[in-house]
Amino acid sequence: MTRSATLTYGDKRIELPVIEGSEGELAVDVTQLRAQTGLITLDPGYGNTGACLSTITYIDGEKGILRYRGIPIEELAERSSFIETAWLLIFGKLPTQAQLDHFSARLTAHAPLHESFKHHFEGFPVNAPPMAMLSAMINTLCCFYPEVQDMTEEDFFEEATRLVSKVRTIAAYTYRRSLGLPFIYPDPKLRYVTNFLHMMFSMPFDQHIASREVVEALNLILLLHADHEQNCSTSTVRVVGSSRANLFSSCAAGVCALWGPLHGGANVAVLDMLEAIHKGGLSAEHTLEMAKDKKSGFKLMGFGHRVYKNFDPRAVILKKSADKVLGQLGVNDPLLDIARRLEELALKDSYFVERKLYPNVDFYSGILMRAMGIPTNMFTVIFAIGRMPGWIAHWKEQHDSEGGRIARPRQIYTGPTTSAYVPVSER
Ligand code: CMC
Repeated sequence: MTRSATLTYGDKRIELPVIEGSEGELAVDVTQLRAQTGLITLDPGYGNTGACLSTITYIDGEKGILRYRGIPIEELAERSSFIETAWLLIFGKLPTQAQLDHFSARLTAHAPLHESFKHHFEGFPVNAPPMAMLSAMINTLCCFYPEVQDMTEEDFFEEATRLVSKVRTIAAYTYRRSLGLPFIYPDPKLRYVTNFLHMMFSMPFDQHIASREVVEALNLILLLHADHEQNCSTSTVRVVGSSRANLFSSCAAGVCALWGPLHGGANVAVLDMLEAIHKGGLSAEHTLEMAKDKKSGFKLMGFGHRVYKNFDPRAVILKKSADKVLGQLGVNDPLLDIARRLEELALKDSYFVERKLYPNVDFYSGILMRAMGIPTNMFTVIFAIGRMPGWIAHWKEQHDSEGGRIARPRQIYTGPTTSAYVPVSER
């Protein structure tokens, strides 16, 4: 059935086509609106705007559904690995064993950085924010692999694999730089997550091999963060990519968007908040009151979501994992007690219940990573490693989209109308 929506404006009446997605979501297609009526739509924050058609990830925020390429996140969390899921997102289908083996081998081959990167890292002050270094270094990859500027279909596999692999090495080196520690080369015998933890925590004279619990938990965190459709950083990657900017630069821009505390930076903000509560001797009750008081300008970090208005399925999975891993690791941490108390109070407080504000993925990933011994300033960097396959998949989808136009929103201008220039001597 062809559907349409009718818009009446003054003496004009136009029919706008209604597009239906594969899960039944409907959208009014306004691509001809301006041409036909002179009107544009205004939707700050894009809460009602579909920016593209996409086959990658499906979310139903009311029902708490998240699927990558059709597969429920719960099933992937239970049965897949980050690397297999990365393939699924980037190439559209679960890999065969041979494809997975080849992917793993290429990830291993791409893990080392060009030696010159060491000098680049040394140029940063020791206290440089890891997210700033991560973004800069991903962009720097374009200088070493200029073929990324003009990729063929065959090149895409190699460049995408290079990025998934090297982001992990760069991430680990941002941490080493922040401590002034020697860089540790990747070990080709180690798998993706174990190798990352080796580059983070080993010393040249003492190899760090992470425990199974920690590796599994980190693998799960990466998998759960691997894509989330048109979020702020992914939209950034698509917008930058729409100008035909290359894959590495577009993803470097995604890192910058992810850094903000309302997006990926929320997992750091959660820990900062818990630490402030602990150090200030504040009660969870008082903190909750502050979050409800609009004048305080304070929000309960790790709560609420633009899309999930019921529960965040990633948070449900991570909460279970956090409970298990904290038990296994025997962690006894006052910040975790504060987190549990905040969660308990907020879940029955009418302010949070009425606004459908639930703990989101960042609430539990922050707690879990702290328990795993990962320093707070690396939380968002780890989110970026996880999100890389999603960014790559979206960059490619945008790149290959038919007629792919450059992203260029309009605006409603509210500044002064025509004004005369006044020479400086007369002002
Ligand atoms: N603490 C207290 N009040 C809140 C919170 C919070 N964390 N989040 C939303 N509200 C209130 C908000 O003030 C508004 O109240 P009212 O209706 O009285 O004006 C109401 O709830 C609806 O919120 P909203 O502003 O429409 O929500 P949004 O969709 O614009 O923002 C959000 C979503 C995630 C940015 C926001 O909930 C927030 O700032 N949360 C804290 C930061 C955080 O945890 N971010 C991580 C998001 S998950 C990771 C990711 O996918 O990027």
